[in-house]
Amino acid sequence: MKITISEVHQHIGEEVTIGVWLNNKRSSGKIAFLELRDGTGFIQGVVVKNEAGEEVFQTAKSMSQETSFYVTGTVREDARSPFGYELQVTGIEIIHEAVDYPITPKAHGTEFLMDHRHLWLRSRRQHAVMKIRNEIIRATYEFFNTHGFTKIDPPILTGSAPEGTTELFHTKYFDEEAYLSQSGQLYMEAAAMAFGKVFSFGPTFRAEKSKTRRHLIEFWMIEPEMAFYEHEDSLKVQEQYVSYIVRSVLENCKLDLHRLGRDTSKLEQVSAPFPRITYDDAIELLHEKGFEDIKWGEDFGAPHETAIAESFDKPVFITHYPAAIKPFYMQPDAKRPEVVLCADLIAPEGYGEIIGGSERINDYDLLLKRIKDFNLSEEAYKWYLDLRKYGSVPHSGFGLGLERTVAWISGVEHVRETIPFPRLLNRIYP
Ligand code: 4AD
Ligand code: MG
Repeated sequence: MKITISEVHQHIGEEVTIGVWLNNKRSSGKIAFLELRDGTGFIQGVVVKNEAGEEVFQTAKSMSQETSFYVTGTVREDARSPFGYELQVTGIEIIHEAVDYPITPKAHGTEFLMDHRHLWLRSRRQHAVMKIRNEIIRATYEFFNTHGFTKIDPPILTGSAPEGTTELFHTKYFDEEAYLSQSGQLYMEAAAMAFGKVFSFGPTFRAEKSKTRRHLIEFWMIEPEMAFYEHEDSLKVQEQYVSYIVRSVLENCKLDLHRLGRDTSKLEQVSAPFPRITYDDAIELLHEKGFEDIKWGEDFGAPHETAIAESFDKPVFITHYPAAIKPFYMQPDAKRPEVVLCADLIAPEGYGEIIGGSERINDYDLLLKRIKDFNLSEEAYKWYLDLRKYGSVPHSGFGLGLERTVAWISGVEHVRETIPFPRLLNRIYP
């Protein structure tokens, strides 16, 4: 019977056939151990010369790494194996023999691995990271679908720029100028006025000249937007959502977290509510921590975010930033218009900002003034202003960066390992 590695637990004691690749192997005079993978999982195949016969044994011994074949054998429970099972091999049918697979079990440099990303994805570590990414995606849909949200897809080719115009990828749209979307937010605001609570999930693009462990040129963002939600209401959704995805990964990706050596005790603590600190207090905290240079009105860099996060054992919201360092659409605080009703959510353990969100300006005249202040084209934002002309309501939303969230939950140092084919400052291959 042909099965997958993920199904072996249903076939203990039975003879099965699995299509596999050879990940690694070791052998002695009479026994060979084959580390096998089929995409759904990993398992060890044991080939005993006396039981499998001379021919199968010799084939196993001489097989090269990444050779594909059908393996036949009996499934055995094995407490010592991290998978809990092993395969007592009786037959091997080679499909395709791999020659000189470049990624060998020895250590390779990062650039080499990135040049071979199309093959590196096969490794156990990358498999674990992508499975965690997949679980976060699954849990995201589950969370929003069970909380009354409708998924709405904003366009990728756009004529407007929510997050400032310096980091846009320009393209020709026939005779017009267009950009690749850096955020679907403005369209999601239109959607919220039509569907109440909405979320989007898609690729976004930033032509940022940043070469850090937190920056990708192309990344995936989840952007919920909610009509009749004020700033505080939105924070509640954010902390529930982030707690939900952390819990889902803890429950459904145990083996993957283990493979990555993730210290899960820190993740176990992640449950709503999350602590909050205002920008003002964060500045003071930084001064106390020895960052004397930072002044009110300046934006935080990665070292600042890490220092602030160290004071808390959960993700922390930094709220009420100065209006001058945030985008044009954020609602000023009525009591103190120099700050806006916004929050960045900073992940623990140095992973930095994973969410940016705010209440949006709902007054037509104020929004128009902000658009002019930012030298944006009134014409391009006419439709966005329309939303403030016909039954404008308080509304809030946020954007969660998928890759930074995957990096944090998996405990992976750099975002380049959290997306299948990363686009980085100097890399669009493979
Ligand atoms: O803070 P940002 O720029 O916020 C927005 O785009 C809002 N329009 C979202 C909204 O309110 N609907 O980006 C949101 C998140 C960041 O917190 C970060 O996690 C991620 O997107 N992000 C990046 N991730 C990887 N590489 C980059 N270059 C990123 N830029 C932002
Ligand atoms: Mg931000």
